[in-house]
Amino acid sequence: MCGIIGYIGRRNAVPILISSLKRLEYRGYDSAGIAFFMNGRIEMRRCAGKIKDLESSIKGQRLRGPLGIGHTRWATHGRPTEENAHPHRAGGVVVVHNGIIENYLELKESLIKRGHRFRSETDTEVACHLISSCLQKGLNLEEATREALRHIRGAYALAIISESEPDKIIAVKKDSPLVIGLGRDEFFVASDIPAFLNHTRDVVIPDNGEIAVVTGQGVRFTDMDGRPLKKKTLRITWSPRMAEKGGYRHFMLKEIFEQPRAIADTIRGRVFPEKGEVNLKEFSLDSRMLRGFKKIFLVACGTSWHAALVGKYMIEGMARVPCEVDIASEFRYRRPIIPEDCLVIVITQSGETADTLAAQREARRQGAMVLSICNVVGSTSSREADAVFYTHSGPEIGVASTKAFTSQLVALYILSIALARARGVLDAAEAVELFNELLSLPEKVEKALGLNDYIKKIARRFYKVRDFLYLGRGINYPIALEGALKLKEISYIHAEGYPAGEMKHGPIALIDDNVPVLTIVPNDELYEKMLSNIEEVRSRGGRVIAVTTGDNKRISDVASWTIFLPESNYYLMPVIFSIPMHLLAYHIAVLRKCNVDQPRNLAKSVTVE
Ligand code: G6P
Repeated sequence: MCGIIGYIGRRNAVPILISSLKRLEYRGYDSAGIAFFMNGRIEMRRCAGKIKDLESSIKGQRLRGPLGIGHTRWATHGRPTEENAHPHRAGGVVVVHNGIIENYLELKESLIKRGHRFRSETDTEVACHLISSCLQKGLNLEEATREALRHIRGAYALAIISESEPDKIIAVKKDSPLVIGLGRDEFFVASDIPAFLNHTRDVVIPDNGEIAVVTGQGVRFTDMDGRPLKKKTLRITWSPRMAEKGGYRHFMLKEIFEQPRAIADTIRGRVFPEKGEVNLKEFSLDSRMLRGFKKIFLVACGTSWHAALVGKYMIEGMARVPCEVDIASEFRYRRPIIPEDCLVIVITQSGETADTLAAQREARRQGAMVLSICNVVGSTSSREADAVFYTHSGPEIGVASTKAFTSQLVALYILSIALARARGVLDAAEAVELFNELLSLPEKVEKALGLNDYIKKIARRFYKVRDFLYLGRGINYPIALEGALKLKEISYIHAEGYPAGEMKHGPIALIDDNVPVLTIVPNDELYEKMLSNIEEVRSRGGRVIAVTTGDNKRISDVASWTIFLPESNYYLMPVIFSIPMHLLAYHIAVLRKCNVDQPRNLAKSVTVE
């Protein structure tokens, strides 16, 4: 995890570094630091805690410089203390790092034998010492970096500055995200685009093993052997406002309320609703390809894995292709059998989750075609995949994923229709009907958001409990898992999602007045069964919150609280059911005074295994 930033230009780097770090804070927030040139020397300021702590620690100091680097940390090696906070320094070389240097212990040992003194417990510090010792052999900073990297194993995005060459930042990348921003007479190095989105939208994305030499005049790219590279500049369509709170108290709340827009953007241009067809060219797919797949794997982590579970119901239900769903961190270690003619769909908001990337690479190694459903343009997953379905949710900053999740469900719905059409199991008229339902989804989600005040009331009744149970069935069982995950990650209440039919095999033992049960009750063939499950809870003294649709009036007789949502078809109900899950978790966390956007121990993008 961690976020890195670098700035070089005509303005004072210090406030720019601080504000960019705030935008990267979702990547880690246990300690932070900056380094910048002031009067020809590198000054460093670091502290344990958040960016605002760093900001207050330098308040009143007159710090200025045209060039600097910064870091926000999510500890992997060494506790979150000031000594372990980045930047790290050896001699005149200062480094910030996102990733893990796997062989740091052996490198550290050999450097100590050669007289180097270490000040931190981090793996990163070996990179400074290695580069510094290469500089002492007479190499320039670029050559010294290249030489040092030959000894380093692991994943890294590094930004490096040195007192020996005060006019440049060197940035390198291997298996950790890195983007370069091209402004007017100013340049940026960052882990993610929102870090500099209010300064420029023109970006270059280095590939693994590439080095960027950034000066006030421009950026030069080379490979590890020093050969010059020509790189493409991308224009990002996200606006700076999209990465700000826009009047909302938290990013999470803003992102929950952005869902109608995010869903509409994810649909736009992807379907031809009157013809009942999907715009396959958008994703570099064609019907022949889609007809050929005998099996589909869906692989992801966290919330994206819950989208994958829903995706299985959609693909098998609509297109009748067998699907397997895997947690990415388990996938390659179970030695998966990936037959020929199968498609592996990876789902990832960030496109940088280490486990998902590892699974994606394993799938490609075995010869499978990989389709990435991804939100971040130019991310590693999107670049390494054979085909990409970009969700157009816009930047998601809150650690708990909301709008990216529902957009992933929409992407899976569209893909399922594409597969079903290509395979001839769905005719144009049926597809038109499914698209009509899809087109009305943003409005229905908007209506569901209108229940915000009512859900806040429910939150007030339940925010002090210690445990919560979420029950669902079929395609909505993953939404029960997602509701429970949302609650536990931001409010620290223990919550479990369970298939309602399994309750009698275990969780029923937990039920009493102190364990509220949220039940997801769509108007489908399992409606009666869900009612029986609710009765089972009630008769054991449990309090039930039922989430259902407009027509299910019978339910309010048996539940303590009932949330009535707009109705959609079977495959799109999970999107609508997600809204109260998001809102309930959000309001409970706020009432418990939790840090909603930055829950403890978590990070938005997990770039370590
Ligand atoms: C982290 C985040 C989750 C996210 C998961 C997968 O755990 O906190 O919100 O669902 O990573 O991330 P991805 O970017 O691959 O979807």
